[in-house]
Amino acid sequence: MDLLLYNAGEIATLSHGEVSKPLSGIEMADREKLVLDSGNAILISKGIIQKISSQEELIQEFAPDFSDGKSNLVDIIDAHGNAIIPGLVDCHTHLLWTGDRSNEMNMRQNGLSYQEISKRGGGISRTVEATRSATKKHLVNLGKYRISQASMNGTTTLEAKSGYGLSVESEIKLLEASSEIPQDKCNLLPTWLGAHDFPKGKSKDEYIEELISEQLPLVAENKLANWVDVFCEPGWYDLEQTELIVKASKELGLKSRLHVDEFVDSNGLALAAELGSSSADHVGFSNTESRAKAHESNTMQVFLPGTPYVLGKNLGDGINECIENNWNFSLATDFNPNCQTLSLPFVASLATHRLGVDPLAALVACTRNPASTLNSELKLNVGSIYEGGPADINILKSEYLDYWCQTPGLSPIEKTLFSGVPV
Ligand code: NIG
Ligand code: FE
Repeated sequence: MDLLLYNAGEIATLSHGEVSKPLSGIEMADREKLVLDSGNAILISKGIIQKISSQEELIQEFAPDFSDGKSNLVDIIDAHGNAIIPGLVDCHTHLLWTGDRSNEMNMRQNGLSYQEISKRGGGISRTVEATRSATKKHLVNLGKYRISQASMNGTTTLEAKSGYGLSVESEIKLLEASSEIPQDKCNLLPTWLGAHDFPKGKSKDEYIEELISEQLPLVAENKLANWVDVFCEPGWYDLEQTELIVKASKELGLKSRLHVDEFVDSNGLALAAELGSSSADHVGFSNTESRAKAHESNTMQVFLPGTPYVLGKNLGDGINECIENNWNFSLATDFNPNCQTLSLPFVASLATHRLGVDPLAALVACTRNPASTLNSELKLNVGSIYEGGPADINILKSEYLDYWCQTPGLSPIEKTLFSGVPV
């Protein structure tokens, strides 16, 4: 039966212009173009938004018998006057790993840097040890639990990286585990991150050779991932190594999304733009010229403010620089052993409460914009609410859409529909 979502407060459709394209600058906060006033309803049929129109019109057309909030002709969801926003899109997560590194915060507070903690056996390599010994079944179960956490916070599309295996067998295990997580609450799009660090017991050159001649061909052949990622940062993969890996993966038909300029500006963002990467993530220290270049090359800058937040660092000026210059940007959680949040509303709270970003602009940065980097692998464009689009929709607990990022630590979501089904 079709579904009528009625009694809606304002609806942030975010669907002005071409929905597959990102928005930038002041258009991200243009309420006139991106938000419908209350009084509208949404008719959903087979998981697709069939019609968005005035409530009276939709009731008359599809539920003429409507009375007391009920109809025999369509299922009804009452939004109780609350605001409606699109399903959220998290385009950067390290979803699958196991182990515990909570001891590292105290090390940081005692003055050790991320690099120093890593040299002392903490950091990525510690998580790699724990993750290698986990069974695939355990990882799938962890994934299911984590997806349910993301879903409780409104996420309906999520990118998931491997990267805590660093061997042929364990990187494949991570990607296979991702593919076995049911996609009944959320679309899940896998990225290979075998180049997250260098494993013990191999030289850097030997490992890069393994990545190119063994891991990547297996990933491509078995369609285990849509993108490749490299941790391009001094001390990990340098520009030359990153370029080599991305070019090799391109020949195998894989696109890229890269970790760049997290701790220093090493021109990683400029390289991502040159390589035509779908996105360049972290980008906290990238220079202005690289940011302009990324925008021109359609390489999305993805800011991950949860990471500097948990590492005790400044959130930086990059986001506001992008807004001022009309450069595309997105926000994502970067869920990982240090930054354990799968809540985009929390990440957007950092951007709005700490950096002065308009809540509507932050919403675009957590929906339509990141979706533009993932849509190529989905049947329909996600990240906005439009006729013919997927019914991935969140009803908030407030009549104001701005509420969506004003409950740090609590979910602002009353109900989520994924493909038209309440989750
Ligand atoms: O994106 N910086 C690289 N990778 C992750 C964190 C890795 C870790 O510390 O486990 C990130 O922040
Ligand atoms: Fe990351």
